[in-house]
Amino acid sequence: MDESAFAARLAETGAAIERELENVLGVAPRPGEPARPARLIAAMRYATLGGGKRLRPFLTVETARALGREDEGPRRAGAAIECVHAYSLIHDDLPAMDDDDLRRGRPTTHRAFDEATAILAGDALQALAFEILADPETDADAKVRAALSAGLARAIGLAGMVGGQMLDLEAERATAPLTVAEIAQLQALKTGALLRFSVEAGARLAGATEAASAALSAYGRAIGAAFQIADDILDAEGDAATLGKRVRKDAERNKATLVGALGIKGARRELARLVEEAEAAVDAAGAGAAGDCLRAAARFVATRKK
Ligand code: IPE
Ligand code: IPE
Ligand code: MG
Ligand code: MG
Ligand code: MG
Repeated sequence: MDESAFAARLAETGAAIERELENVLGVAPRPGEPARPARLIAAMRYATLGGGKRLRPFLTVETARALGREDEGPRRAGAAIECVHAYSLIHDDLPAMDDDDLRRGRPTTHRAFDEATAILAGDALQALAFEILADPETDADAKVRAALSAGLARAIGLAGMVGGQMLDLEAERATAPLTVAEIAQLQALKTGALLRFSVEAGARLAGATEAASAALSAYGRAIGAAFQIADDILDAEGDAATLGKRVRKDAERNKATLVGALGIKGARRELARLVEEAEAAVDAAGAGAAGDCLRAAARFVATRKK
């Protein structure tokens, strides 16, 4: 699958995800809900529906598709993961964290609303994600739903995204620079874990064999690591108009990144190595031609401009 075919698929699957997000983030209360406070749902919609590449849900949907499942289940799980991603960005941008004013080309959620509303919108998006995963509409099998819920919890909590965010903030104030291995671990937690889970969720929903699951999990790990390196390279070299967020902020805030530790060239080398590793893992999963889209996604992660 070449770059333009991949772009078309990303747009098409992204549109399907968008519809799913609209569905779960409606302004009107859902059956059984007494109310949806207007300001809160407005902030949740602002943070979630306002653009974004939708890469995580894309990986869920396309992993499931590569293994033969194409119904609403993976789109719902993808929407849940995107809700968590949006929550992580809202909180990441808060003054107490990265203190950013621009996200996806618009004011960050705490700027467009206020800090308290932004914190609550993030909290509610996290809860909503688990509600979606626990719903029988996502998968008829309660065991699958329980596995997805536990997997997401693991990916985004203490030993996942939130743990990584803690290490990321601590590193800003570290007296000695972090080692390459420490940075890799920090990034595996803060960004890698959710991307990896996005792939694993697709495999689980499609009932992948143990061997295929292990190979796809390795794919998810590699693509997750590659993703943050690319983000750090874009921070150092990209422009705010294309990225829709402030640039050069990592060096300014003394963030621990592989660009800082290895230089741009070294970071690029590591990125290329991870893309190869990801592509090889898709081969190992035995997906054959059905894995073309996943291989293209790995290349996209490295070549993207935003
Ligand atoms: C940005 O994620 C935050 C990181 C984990 C590096 P994305 O680059 O996927 O952000 P959107 O969703 O496309 O805006
Ligand atoms: C964000 O990493 C990771 C999470 C949101 C968990 P960054 O802080 O590098 O993301 P950007 O550059 O603000 O998008
Ligand atoms: Mg951050
Ligand atoms: Mg940030
Ligand atoms: Mg960044």
